[in-house]
Amino acid sequence: MNSDPRETCFLDTAHIGRRILVFDSLPSTNDTAARLASDPNHHGTVVTAVHQTAGRGQYGRQWQSRPGASLLLSVALNPPAALRRPVVLIAWAAVAVAEAIRRLTGVPARIKWPNDLLIRGKKVCGILTESVVCGADVRSVVGIGLNVHQEASDFAAAGLPDATSLTLVTGQRFDSFDVLRSVVESLDVEYTRVVAGELVSLESDWKWRVGLLGQRVRVDMADGTTRFGQLRDMMFDGIEIEPDEGEIPVIPPEAIRQLKPTDPD
Ligand code: BTN
Repeated sequence: MNSDPRETCFLDTAHIGRRILVFDSLPSTNDTAARLASDPNHHGTVVTAVHQTAGRGQYGRQWQSRPGASLLLSVALNPPAALRRPVVLIAWAAVAVAEAIRRLTGVPARIKWPNDLLIRGKKVCGILTESVVCGADVRSVVGIGLNVHQEASDFAAAGLPDATSLTLVTGQRFDSFDVLRSVVESLDVEYTRVVAGELVSLESDWKWRVGLLGQRVRVDMADGTTRFGQLRDMMFDGIEIEPDEGEIPVIPPEAIRQLKPTDPD
């Protein structure tokens, strides 16, 4: 580990956040959580930092945020095989963070495929899941960047016109620890639900929060091709798109890079 945590907090949760390591600055909370994840005793440990010097997002992009402006956290996980798939872990985190946002602000957040949360069409949160191979075992890290305190000037300076924060949405100030606790407790509630076998209920919350069922969608595939059709159903095992002609394909989520409405509102 690059440095020692500034403090360690303990929540009275079942799985996630029983131990929270708080750092002033790290290259990336995902890297620190990945090192912890190699030891199964760290399952559920949360790593959070005020600042990241090499934060990263999906597809190798940089994730930058003014120190203290975002909640930056990663969870070290040793999940059962059924939960280890990126689509499931991202759905878990997205549903949990959306629920925490609703509790903190009263405002609904929508999931934008594959790993973003939007409020009123603007990005408020990004999620990055990574696998950690430990000999014959595979562990997981789920990283969350939630915009909390940013003002419009922060996003303008960063060239991010399509981003928002909890403060911008509500006009209120938030206590950073309250936001951390709310998100971690929500992650724990959802994790407890899925390890108890309620994967179908997570799947239906995820489907509902993506909010595109029945709509005409554009699917950008990982192989570079594009498909159009009506979204018939969304399951962790396959997305059903009714094309204008021909059979209804069931597309594995891992093969989809982007899924969006053809007529975004
Ligand atoms: C994305 O929008 O592409 C995903 C962004 C994920 C950012 C978070 S911030 C905490 C954790 N540490 C990282 O380096 N990335 C994730």
